[in-house]
Amino acid sequence: MEFPDHPTTVSRRCFIGGCAAAATVITTGTAAAADTETDTGAQPCGKLPPGTVLAKKADVPLNGGVVVYFDDETSVVVAQPKKGTYTAFDAKCTHAGCMCSEVDNNLIICWCHDSRFSSVDGKRRSGPAKKPLPQIKTKIKGENIVVA
Ligand code: FES
Repeated sequence: MEFPDHPTTVSRRCFIGGCAAAATVITTGTAAAADTETDTGAQPCGKLPPGTVLAKKADVPLNGGVVVYFDDETSVVVAQPKKGTYTAFDAKCTHAGCMCSEVDNNLIICWCHDSRFSSVDGKRRSGPAKKPLPQIKTKIKGENIVVA
């Protein structure tokens, strides 16, 4: 499979997609142009600089998500577990390093060994993984979800 040079948001339930650590749940219920941010207390992502566009809000389905590929080591899951609330996680599975590739019914799925994580907080819900997916601190900028 070939990957594009530019970050690509792939489809509705998920896609291809690890970054490293940081967390933020974004609530977009207010003015779209305003920056809103909720810090969940996780460590910030060390690979993606602040302001990096992760996805357009309109491209992230409710109760689903997208996986955005940046490079071979950096993919991010962006999800909308609740209407107007967006979350982002390092897509690299904490079990053995495969990339999570699907979000379905608010579960982020790694098909390598079937680990599943909550798209609300990244916590493991089932499978061999023991640790949660690192969250990425984000904010809303206009119509985009960006790294905070
Ligand atoms: S690498 Fe994800 S479940 Fe094993």
